[in-house]
Amino acid sequence: MKIGIIGAGNIGGNLTRRLTALGHDVSVANSRGPATLTALAEETGATPVPVEEAARGAELVVVTVPLKAVPGLPSGLFDEAADGAVVVDTGNYYPRQRDGKIAGIEDEGLTESRWTARQLGHTVVKAFNGTYAQDLLDRHRPAGAPDRIALPVAADDASAKQVVRDLIDELGFDTVDAGSLDDSWRQQPGTPVYGLQEGVDAVTKALAEAPRERSADFRA
Ligand SMILES: NC(=O)c1ccc[n+]([C@@H]2O[C@H](COP(=O)([O-])OP(=O)(O)OC[C@H]3O[C@@H](n4cnc5c(N)ncnc54)[C@H](OP(=O)(O)O)[C@@H]3O)[C@@H](O)[C@H]2O)c1
Repeated sequence: MKIGIIGAGNIGGNLTRRLTALGHDVSVANSRGPATLTALAEETGATPVPVEEAARGAELVVVTVPLKAVPGLPSGLFDEAADGAVVVDTGNYYPRQRDGKIAGIEDEGLTESRWTARQLGHTVVKAFNGTYAQDLLDRHRPAGAPDRIALPVAADDASAKQVVRDLIDELGFDTVDAGSLDDSWRQQPGTPVYGLQEGVDAVTKALAEAPRERSADFRA
C-alpha cells in the first residue's frame, strides 16, 4: 500500500520501520521538514516529505502527532490522497502533561477521535492509541501465536475499519472491533484497555468494563 505517515516520533517512527519492512511504500513527515528525517529514511527506505505532501497519492494516512498539533496541520491535507483514502488517528489527549485544555473534548464531551476527525475534516480510524511504541517492534507475532496481543479499533466507516484491521494483522497483532468513534472513549487514556498487552478476550472484557467518566488525571 502507499502509506503517508504524519509524525515521525515514537509511534510514527516505529510504524515507518515496520511498514517499510513489510514492503509498503511509506512517505513520512515531521514538523521540521524532510532534511531532519534522513537517518530514518536511510534506515528504512521511507521517503521523507514535507507534511503538505505526506498524503499525496496515499491509500492510507496515519496522523500521529501530539493532539495539540492537530489544529495546526495544513488545511487540505488529504486533497491529493487516493480516492477513499483511510486516515488512522493514534492520538491521545494529555491535557496536563502536553496538550493543555481542549474544550471540544472536555466541555462538549466529544471523544478524542471525534474531535480529531472534526479538526481534520476527514473521518478517522482510531488505532494504536493504547499501544506502546516499542511493542510495535517487539511484540508482533504470527497469526495464531498464543501470546499475540490485540489492539482495539474504532471507526464509523466499516470498510475503512476493515482496511486498518487487516493492516494490523499484517503487522502482527490481533484486533477487536471497539465500535464507532462515539464509542471510542472505551479505549482512551485511563481506561482498562489503555496499555493492556493481552489477547482478544482480555481486550474485549476491558473495553466492556470501561467507565464513561474521564478520569481526573486526564482532565485539564
Ligand atoms: N509514545 C507512545 O508509546 C504512544 C503510544 C500510543 C499513542 N501515542 C499517541 O500518538 C501520538 C504521537 O505520539 P508520539 O509518542 O509518537 O509523539 P512524539 O514522539 O512526540 O512525536 C511527535 C511527532 O509529531 C511531529 N509533529 C508535531 N507537530 C507536527 C506538525 N504540525 N506537523 C507535522 N508533524 C508534527 C513531530 O515532529 P518533530 O519531530 O519535527 O517535532 C514528531 O515527529 C500522540 O497523540 C500520543 O499520545 C503515543
